[in-house]
Amino acid sequence: MLKVLVVFGTRPEAIKMAPVVKALERERERFLCRVAVTAQHREMLDQVLELFDIRPAYDLDIMRAGQTLFDITERALSGLRRVLEAEAPDLVLVHGDTTTTFAAALAAFYLQIPVGHVEAGLRTRNKYAPFPEEMNRHLTAVLADLHFAPTPRARTNLLTEGVPAERIFVTGNTVIDALQATVRPDFAFTDPVLRAVDFASQRVLLVTTHRRENWGAPLREVYRALREVVLAYPDVVVVFPVHRNPVVRDVVLAELGGLPRVHLIEPLDYLPFANLMARCHLVLTDSGGLQEEAPALGKPVLVLRETTERPEALEAGTVELVGTARERVLAATRRLLDDPAAYRRMAEAVNPYGDGRAAARVVAALAYRFGLAAEPPEEFVPPCAGNYFTGPAGGKIFSESGAGIGPGSVEH
Ligand code: UD1
Ligand code: UDP
Repeated sequence: MLKVLVVFGTRPEAIKMAPVVKALERERERFLCRVAVTAQHREMLDQVLELFDIRPAYDLDIMRAGQTLFDITERALSGLRRVLEAEAPDLVLVHGDTTTTFAAALAAFYLQIPVGHVEAGLRTRNKYAPFPEEMNRHLTAVLADLHFAPTPRARTNLLTEGVPAERIFVTGNTVIDALQATVRPDFAFTDPVLRAVDFASQRVLLVTTHRRENWGAPLREVYRALREVVLAYPDVVVVFPVHRNPVVRDVVLAELGGLPRVHLIEPLDYLPFANLMARCHLVLTDSGGLQEEAPALGKPVLVLRETTERPEALEAGTVELVGTARERVLAATRRLLDDPAAYRRMAEAVNPYGDGRAAARVVAALAYRFGLAAEPPEEFVPPCAGNYFTGPAGGKIFSESGAGIGPGSVEH
């Protein structure tokens, strides 16, 4: 029996690790799965734990209002030291690129515990973009013993850095597993703002922003572009779940507060958020995860960044890097609103990121590497076309097997 300690701390890590936790829990004869959360995020994390019915054995509760990178690193590192010493797992499993990820990998290294890295190998090769995530991901890769690359390109990145091929498994991204467990054609919103939106006659622009390198002037530029869009198009509605970070929130309110057809709402729980993404017209975001989810739902994405570590959808033409300059954001948004052919080209359902079996592959790879299975899992091969059907609102909604699966479970 292999004892695996899964560590995460923020909303996106929780969403993407939930399918892995559930897959490990299903394999009770071979794995003992324990979860430790740093709670680098609090409310944004807790709603995911509740949705997927995950009960952490440890909760370090490190979040403070306005925390710095130093605060997170120090509190996560010393807190996880105590957890790892008490738990003595055979393996620590971390996800992605947050400061919790890096601190957990470092703590495990200091105690000479092997590290598995889920969503490994994404790179911009720009140390400061995304900041600090690009470096967190690099540093975690150096510390990790097993690398679960979501795509073949991520594997190539790791090979280029000298990671031995036998330590890398191409699994697909677990975010697609999470989406399949969440998006349903008959989903009914409870939020009054979302209930009031007429998805048939109004074009919903779904907006999220939070990246550190965009704080201040770049975000202001984006919000000014949005203001112009909404004033110019009477059928456009902006739904903007505003990140809880006060640095982001203050600027959003100053630039977009009080505008007609601009709904500034609290961060949505993942279940309504994923279903909103499935029904919206267009996504504008600087998020990493949304760049993977929206293409799988057939939604064009304008990426409010200069560079991305997720080039697969860029190459497929379903996302476009527009940066943050007001003129560019405005022009790109206008083009998609005015030119149905340009919109259709981007909305074509191409999903280079996963087939919903990533978590099962992670678990199968662990079993193989630790001698609990004779064969490694079959690798994920992108892209996955044809997993789609057209939902009642006309938007493409994921997928045959995912439809009808409710919260509290990622089993299918
Ligand atoms: C963090 C991650 C980032 C990830 C993002 C996803 C780091 C350095 N940053 O950025 O990689 O892409 O999460 O959202 O690891 N807050 C709350 N409640 C919450 C969550 C946050 O009030 O549930 C507020 C707090 O004031 C907190 C602030 O937001 O201090 C910033 O949170 P933090 O985790 O430091 O940074 P994010 O920008 O969320
Ligand atoms: N998300 C959510 N509610 C929101 C905004 C985002 O549940 O109001 C989900 C989204 O579906 C995705 C994840 O949170 O799975 C992305 O988180 P975020 O953008 O904060 O982080 P990143 O992906 O950039 O690290």
